[in-house]
Amino acid sequence: MRVEEQKLTANATTAGGTVIALVPAAGRGIRLEAGMPKAFVELAGKPMLVRAVEGLLAAGCVDQVVVIVPADLVAAAAALLPATVQVVVGGAERTDSVRCGLQAAGDADYVLVHDAARALTPPGLIQRVVAELRSGHRAVIPGLAVVDTVKAVDASGMVVGTPDRATLRAVQTPQGFDAEVLRRAYRGESGATDDAALVELIGEQVFVVAGDEMAFKITRPIDLALAEALLA
Ligand code: CTP
Ligand code: MG
Repeated sequence: MRVEEQKLTANATTAGGTVIALVPAAGRGIRLEAGMPKAFVELAGKPMLVRAVEGLLAAGCVDQVVVIVPADLVAAAAALLPATVQVVVGGAERTDSVRCGLQAAGDADYVLVHDAARALTPPGLIQRVVAELRSGHRAVIPGLAVVDTVKAVDASGMVVGTPDRATLRAVQTPQGFDAEVLRRAYRGESGATDDAALVELIGEQVFVVAGDEMAFKITRPIDLALAEALLA
């Protein structure tokens, strides 16, 4: 790449506001049953955390990356990642970890929150989320049509309803936010399974863009087997 082109790329990245990506990787990975925090589990010879960060950097639209890891794995994470990636300690629940990352986020204009466990997320999906943020949406999440019929059930196992599948989306990360909106959402309640839920609670609109099947979350052993097969 020539020098002039490099300058253009750098300007294109920051024009209209800086983008920081928070990568929660402080979970224990209980369901993966790998005996270690799953962000550090290798997928075809490379830890999932490293793959997730590489995807963010390859997208070319992220200015800074902060990864959030368990306290005893800060040095291990730093050793695996480029020196420009910041490493901070997470908390007990995912929302606690994201809150820790937000504290390190400085004055970025946009914040992406991206699970380390979505290790195969294509850069194109990351670019799509950032493009919609830059076009004015204050909260943007990727979603896919649901293939199974979903039932609501009560505590005794009885079905209490069947939502119309056509209106449902299974949502992924990165979820992107105007930084002020996400900070405000995080001042309130915790305990949601995604960041958009907290943004919904403060009454902000959340826009869904097309997700990508490759952005699936590696949660159970079968997901890891699928990811290995896809990379083989
Ligand atoms: N995560 C985090 N801090 C937590 C819990 C989760 O940073 N206290 C991160 C995980 O590391 C993962 C992402 O949030 O990258 C999505 O969470 P999940 O898939 O549930 O991962 P784990 O909590 O590690 O897995 P499990 O629930 O099976 O223990
Ligand atoms: Mg979890």
